[in-house]
Amino acid sequence: MKTVYLAMSADIIHNGHINIIKKARELGEVTVGVLKDEAIASYKRAPLLPYENRKEVIENIKGVERVIPQNTLDYEENLLLLKPDYVVHGDDWRTGPQSHIRAKVIELLKQWGGKLVEFEYTKGISVSKLDEAIRGIGITPQIRLRSLRRLLEIKPIIRILEAHSGLTGLIVEKTKIDENDCIKEFDGMWISSLCDSTAKGKPDIELVDLTSRLNTINDILEVTTKPIILDGDTGGQVEHFVYAVKSLERLGVSAIIIEDKTGLKRNSLFGIEVLQWQDSTENFGRKISEGKKAQVTEDFMIIARIESLILKAGMDDAIRRAKAYIESGADGIMIHSREKDPSEIFEFCTLYNDLDTRVPLVVVPTSYSQVTEKELELKGVNIIIYANHLIRSAFPAMVKTAKTILRNERALEADKNCLSIKEILTLVPGGQ
Ligand code: SPV
Ligand code: MG
Repeated sequence: MKTVYLAMSADIIHNGHINIIKKARELGEVTVGVLKDEAIASYKRAPLLPYENRKEVIENIKGVERVIPQNTLDYEENLLLLKPDYVVHGDDWRTGPQSHIRAKVIELLKQWGGKLVEFEYTKGISVSKLDEAIRGIGITPQIRLRSLRRLLEIKPIIRILEAHSGLTGLIVEKTKIDENDCIKEFDGMWISSLCDSTAKGKPDIELVDLTSRLNTINDILEVTTKPIILDGDTGGQVEHFVYAVKSLERLGVSAIIIEDKTGLKRNSLFGIEVLQWQDSTENFGRKISEGKKAQVTEDFMIIARIESLILKAGMDDAIRRAKAYIESGADGIMIHSREKDPSEIFEFCTLYNDLDTRVPLVVVPTSYSQVTEKELELKGVNIIIYANHLIRSAFPAMVKTAKTILRNERALEADKNCLSIKEILTLVPGGQ
């Protein structure tokens, strides 16, 4: 009996998959390589179903002899292991991003006289449209809440962008670019206190209360599916914080980040130009541990944000606090800096990686924006938050339009900077 190998992500199964398995079966005994979550997440959004579930589905399809994991997009590991007589694939990979993977498969098969057999790709199915529709229907608060932890398990680095409204939430949800064989997109949203306050025309001093923040979150939850991290400022009084944790879990928010400041909170990017006070390690540690006791799910994350570098309290203080907050139960550490280059963040990362217990590390490269995601990943950072960039780019565009209308006493000159009427009417689907 000849042997046949066939790889798939198998996240959304449709008749195209069944067709190809049937055809493979006619050639010999079929082994399916199901892509691991990490392999899928390396080139597009993480799959809807985890590997174990996808494996179980494929194992139960008629004609499949066995399922093995495929750890990377590259077939090499499994082909060398199985040395199959045939590799079967749809003909959709002859051109485009997967063509170099195809070329390598052909080369490898030559080593033992194997053959690539391609079948016509089943038309009329848009997996990306199905994926979008299923994600929209399938998202429950629990699934969304858990999704941040799941991403941390399968992606080396998580990319988060701020959102402060339904519309900006949609931008984070849907913006994609196709580059170097990868579909790049943001992994989730940061509900920044600075941007949420600024969008409401208010200063970032914990003036916008939790009820109002929850309204913003709700607007975003209604139209998106990606995980949400809330900027929880100082977390407020411990007695209030424990309520906030429960409310956020109920909604499906994945994490709250609270900063170790006390008194009237000012934005960290002011640094020591304004009066700001750091909380004692003991008080803040208690806030974390009370929050952890209050949560009802295992998946919600309380991330402790260290302000020692912002407040010039020194690197030793920052590391000492990281250790203490982890001991208090923090599920992650955020280290903040307002320096113009990333050297103090890098120094922190090196020391942090030596701690006995390490939890995911979060950074916010606003003032040191020259740093690349790759550099941060190599330093061990797990989550990067682009904390304010949508509102900072929208504001100048809006002021420019307002001034253009004032100057010209009509709107014609501003039109070129605006979406067309047709575009704005159809930007959010469902209005027709
Ligand atoms: C925010 O986005 O509100 C933050 C990050 O807390 S920063 O503005 O840099 O303090
Ligand atoms: Mg903030």
